[in-house]
Amino acid sequence: MKHLRHTLPVVLAVLALDAATAEAKETHSPGTEKKAEPQFKNIQVLKGMPASQMGGAMRFISASLGVGCDYCHVITDQGHWMEKDDKETKKIARKMILMTRAINHANFEDKPEVSCATCHHGRNEPLRQPPVGRPVEDEVVVKSDSPAPTVDEVLAKYRQALGGDAVAKVTTRVIKASLMTVDGTSWDLQMEAKAPDKLYSRLALSNGIAERGFDGKVGWMRNPDGTVADLHGMELLDTQRMSNFQGALNVRDRLPDVKVRGQMKLGDRQTWRVDAKGAGDTRERLYFDVDTGLLDRTLVLIETPLGELPEQTDYAHYQEVNAVKFPFRIERASAGMDTVTTILDVKFNEPVDDSKFERPPAVK
Ligand code: HEC
Ligand code: HEC
Repeated sequence: MKHLRHTLPVVLAVLALDAATAEAKETHSPGTEKKAEPQFKNIQVLKGMPASQMGGAMRFISASLGVGCDYCHVITDQGHWMEKDDKETKKIARKMILMTRAINHANFEDKPEVSCATCHHGRNEPLRQPPVGRPVEDEVVVKSDSPAPTVDEVLAKYRQALGGDAVAKVTTRVIKASLMTVDGTSWDLQMEAKAPDKLYSRLALSNGIAERGFDGKVGWMRNPDGTVADLHGMELLDTQRMSNFQGALNVRDRLPDVKVRGQMKLGDRQTWRVDAKGAGDTRERLYFDVDTGLLDRTLVLIETPLGELPEQTDYAHYQEVNAVKFPFRIERASAGMDTVTTILDVKFNEPVDDSKFERPPAVK
């Protein structure tokens, strides 16, 4: 599989797309949702799709082919021109969107059963031969004779592993970290979180500061150029999910249909997989380590117009801070932006003012 490349210009292009999809909802009241074609400059086959779904659709395509946005789009150090049709791959992708749609129309009552991922499976050129060797996914079902624990048992062990009663006493988190993309570039990241669901993050990019926040109701982003937009759709759900202060521990309060799915092997770790119906059109899977009880992975499956998009987060290097464990390495694999966050410093229960999480004014 080719490595996704995420240079600064690509990351900026992704941010611009998020801002554009955010703005699409912003300027329109519910019900009269803005379509992709007036919001973007050169839409030919995705006409009629809500503009707010563009981010999900483009990330889905990138993930299905295992490529960065610049595989199809003109992105250089000077800027990005997503509307240009200079690259042959973009033109092929248009035909492929029509072909996939035709297959689903003819065979699956227009449901997105066949997607780019069905054939491409993380490669720009689909395999022509049957695959040999291990499957791409590293999740392996473990057959066990002993009965699986209940959700409550898994969560009780997790709570104990995190620090027991000490966990409930933590109500704020102030983090200094370094965020690294797969090409090795890294940026300073600052995060402040407050129970039950407030979050602020600040990423120092080379061309300015990118901020995101959620105050419990409103999600927003401030771009490096100083413009501010409310988050909607996939970006809002994403931010909301991350804002949940103890999201995995509170999964039962947060989500319906929580159940233990069985024992899964992730690499050399044995885990209990807990499944839940997520917010909006998403599903969530949580993997708790059988031995330590700690959370090893979360997988969020997000419905996009083209198919289901996975967003995987792996947690490792748990360290104890004031009697509470916290993962010091957080690896996120999501199309368009794969990152490793290395925590440099965590402080619990520092005072954080609520105004920090509220939508700020634009700065010019
Ligand atoms: C495999 C090719 C491919 C990849 C990879 C891809 N796109 Fe696209 N993108 C397209 C096609 C094709 C269109 C035009 C769709 C149409 O004509 O309806 C498009 C359109 C767009 C547009 C609208 C441009 C305009 O103004 O008309 C944006 C913005 C965009 N893509 C962003 C991205 C971002 C960000 C990524 C990376 C996360 C990405 N794309 C990855 C093929 C791709
Ligand atoms: C039914 C199987 C199938 C589906 C579904 C499919 N593709 Fe393809 N795609 C192919 C095959 C096969 C090729 C290689 C054709 C060749 O080599 O001439 C290809 C080639 C491509 C290429 C050119 C790759 C290159 O490097 O030359 C792009 C870009 C592409 N597909 C994008 C997409 C996108 C985007 C989707 C989803 C909207 C998609 N494909 C869905 C089978 C599929």
